[in-house]
This record gives sequence, C-alpha cells and structure tokens, in this order.
Amino acid sequence: MDEKIIIENVCQEKGVKILDNISAKVYDGEIFSIFGPSGSGKTTLLRLINRLDEKTSGHIYLDGVDIDEMDVITLRRRVGMVFQLPALLPGKVYQNILFGPGLFDRSKRDDTALALRYLKLVGLDEELLDRDGETLSVGQQQRVSIARALANEPGVILMDEPTSALDLTATLKIEELIKRLNRELKVTIVIVTHNIEQAVRVSDRSMLIVRGRKIEEGKTKDMLKNPKEELTEEFISGHLEEVR
Ligand SMILES: Nc1ncnc2c1ncn2[C@@H]1O[C@H](COP(=O)(O)OP(=O)(O)OP(=O)(O)O)[C@@H](O)[C@H]1O
Ligand SMILES: [Mg+2]
Repeated sequence: MDEKIIIENVCQEKGVKILDNISAKVYDGEIFSIFGPSGSGKTTLLRLINRLDEKTSGHIYLDGVDIDEMDVITLRRRVGMVFQLPALLPGKVYQNILFGPGLFDRSKRDDTALALRYLKLVGLDEELLDRDGETLSVGQQQRVSIARALANEPGVILMDEPTSALDLTATLKIEELIKRLNRELKVTIVIVTHNIEQAVRVSDRSMLIVRGRKIEEGKTKDMLKNPKEELTEEFISGHLEEVR
C-alpha cells in the first residue's frame, strides 16, 4: 500500500513539550486511529496535518510532498477536517455543504444538485437541504460537517473525536457512515478517539500517544490483543487516565 501521510520526527512545543518526536505512517485508503488519554497530544497532532497549527520541528508529507511546501488552501482542500463539535456556519444546510467548493469555484455556490449528492451520501433526507443548520440535531449536524468536508473531494479526512457529543446509537451510526465512506470513496481517514472500542470498531491501524510520545503503532486488533508496551496494556485496561 502507498503511504498517504508520513509523519517524521514531529515535535511541538509551547513553553512545554506537547509532542515529542512523533513518527508514523498512514497508508492510502485506510482508517487510522490516534488514541490516548486526555491531554496526550492527539488534537495537536491532527491539527498539524492540515496546518491549523505549526510544528516546532519535523516534517509531514502528503502524497510524498512536504506540506510546508504546499499552499495552505490547497492542503486544506485535500485534507478535510471534522471537529469534535459540528460547528456549522450560520445559514442553510446546503450553504454549509457548498462552503468549500464555493471557495474554490464561484459557480458551485448555488449548486444544489452537488449539495444534494453529498447530503444523500451522508444519509440525510432531501428535505433537510433548505433547513437552517442550527435546527438540526447534533447527530444530523455532524453528518452535515462530514458532507461539507467531502464536498471538496479530499484524499484525506481528519476527524477529531467526531462522536463525542453523541449517544451510543448515534455514535454507532456515524461509525458505520465513516466506514462506508472510506469503502465507497476510498478516502483515507485519520480519526482521533480516546475510546479503544471505537478504534477497534472503525480502524485498520492505530497509534497510541501518551504524554506527547508515540508508544505503539500497528494493526488495531493486534495491538490490543498483544500489546508490546506496558503503557499500551495500562491504557487498554483503563488504568491510564489523565496523565499530565
Ligand atoms: N496553546 C497551548 N499552549 C500550551 N499548552 C497547550 C496549548 N495547546 C495545547 N496544550 C497542551 O498540550 C497538551 C495536549 O493537548 P491536546 O489538546 O492535543 O490533547 P488531546 O490528546 O487532544 O486531549 P483530549 O483527549 O482531552 O482532547 C495538553 O496538555 C494541553 O494543555
Ligand atoms: Mg483532543
């Protein structure tokens, strides 16, 4: 499999060391999860991948190109982001979905057929297209956020705990959606979760980060069945909570 993202010796410091020499690979077409306790640096690392934040040192490559050499708008078009909370923009659902494409191509701004295609793709009903985003349930809003990310036709979508505001039923449905989109669109997905069960349900491979350091990386199921590191065992057994 081709390498989609290469993370190479990445450090991040803001007075304190937040990420300490992280290296990892995400392969094309896989679902990769980053898990670890609260405060371990998961969100920070995710944000570095589409340059919502700057690294102190190290490199990140997308399809073999250093992301620091890329125009940031192009990078964000190719690497979409879904946040922990849906964060819809004020306005209609279709305006939200078309936000990204509209930035790049003005003719797409009112392209309701395009908006409808992505609305359906994330499993929402056509009648929601013209609704105000804020009138939707949180689960529906998260689907719209995913549709908005997909509408740019990115090669990668980064998701930061996308189900943390949802109950179990809605969580499982979003997980099914994530897997279906990965399968059907061949989009590479990097998902941050603090929940091991979620990592097992959705991801092919994973890495565990604790206190800004990578502890282990590998196939999710192998890692959990046969952890190589003591910290992985501790995390699996729930004994590793807040560590900072
Ligand atoms: N701007 C900043 N200045 C100083 N410290 C920061 C800054 N941003 C994040 N941190 C610290 O970096 C560490 C990692 O934060 P991060 O948000 O990446 O953790 P996380 O693994 O996503 O945690 P959670 O599971 O709670 O979301 C935390 O200790 C946090 O307080
Ligand atoms: Mg976080």
